[in-house]
Amino acid sequence: MEYRFARRVLAIEPSPTVAVSDRARQLRAAGQDVIDLGGGDPDFPTPPHIVEAAAAAMAAGDTHYVASPGIVELRRAIADKLRADNGVAYDPDEIIVTPGGKAAIYAAIVTLIDRGDEVLILDPGWVSYAPEVTLAEGVPVRVPLAAEEGFAITAERLRPHLTARTRALILSTPNNPTGRVATHAELEAVAAVARERDLLVLSDEIYEKLVYDDALHLSIAALPGMRERTITLNGFSKAYAMTGWRLGYLAAPAPIVKQILKVHSHSVTCAASFSQRGAVAALAGPQEPIAAMVAAYDRRRHLVRDGLNAIPGVRCPLPEGAFYAFPDIRGTGLSSAACAELLIERARVAVTPGEAFGAAGEGHIRLSFATSDELLAGAIERIGAALAAR
Ligand SMILES: Cc1ncc(COP(=O)(O)O)c(C=O)c1O
Repeated sequence: MEYRFARRVLAIEPSPTVAVSDRARQLRAAGQDVIDLGGGDPDFPTPPHIVEAAAAAMAAGDTHYVASPGIVELRRAIADKLRADNGVAYDPDEIIVTPGGKAAIYAAIVTLIDRGDEVLILDPGWVSYAPEVTLAEGVPVRVPLAAEEGFAITAERLRPHLTARTRALILSTPNNPTGRVATHAELEAVAAVARERDLLVLSDEIYEKLVYDDALHLSIAALPGMRERTITLNGFSKAYAMTGWRLGYLAAPAPIVKQILKVHSHSVTCAASFSQRGAVAALAGPQEPIAAMVAAYDRRRHLVRDGLNAIPGVRCPLPEGAFYAFPDIRGTGLSSAACAELLIERARVAVTPGEAFGAAGEGHIRLSFATSDELLAGAIERIGAALAAR
């Protein structure tokens, strides 16, 4: 049979970060000693009180469908969290719990973006935003940010890309891949453009708990006139080391949530019942486990920054948030793809080429420091040796 596929699917490529991890796994299966700094999965176990809550729920028979938007206890806990941490008031009915933050972003895009609608994507930006817009038959419009400006977001950078078809902007802070945390002034710049041009803002705040020094995570929905046009996206994967639980959420004004819920209920029905019980324990229980993980990431970002800066041709700023270093490798004379290729083939270190995050990411590579200090130190040593031996 001749297979035919939808054009919107043929228009996208598989996730490049998954491809990096697949190559690392393949080499490992062949007996190679590979250090994988490609992925975004915390190396910490989920805190035990969260695991116990989910296990107790399963043992008690909580293994069935639950309400499509999520169990009310969890939506109430999320509403309390959004009020306390983010300064935005949402009713539990304005929240949908999804199988991972990714599913929240996808459901929001599919609901809000129509064929031909343009969506501004800050470049470099997370690998899945543009393909998700393409799957909704929208048009991803990349807004290049400059390494020389610390990838700062300004109204001047945004304005040239606005057209009559611009419908939304996707914001990610703390940022994957750059490790930047947006300042109040940067959020104000985005908000001013959004208000002026009547745009929606999809605000991906999945790394909000992972900020260092005096960096402060701010939610754009809390700025004047922004709650009505913001879809707040968040989840449990990164803050609570719960990637395998597949649990995220979105919060938005009731009319938006009503429409997204149609997509969510027809596509996934609901997020896993016992995962949601674990998430209730995550929000209600002690937050010290987050502080312990942040302290480890804080130590490692220094280790990675200092180690990379000692390698000729590599310049690495100190990440302000998330768990990624995004060094500038232009001084090596290698493209980001050639550098990533060299590192996996000769150093057996898996990293993601900056070009995977958009053209403005070229000249950089992304290294995840959600892995042990020992492995990070070993990886830096191998990277230095492989680059020196060229
Ligand atoms: C910026 C960003 N948003 C969303 C996600 C989705 O995470 P999850 O689907 O595990 O909640 C990730 C995961 O890597 C991410 O880096």
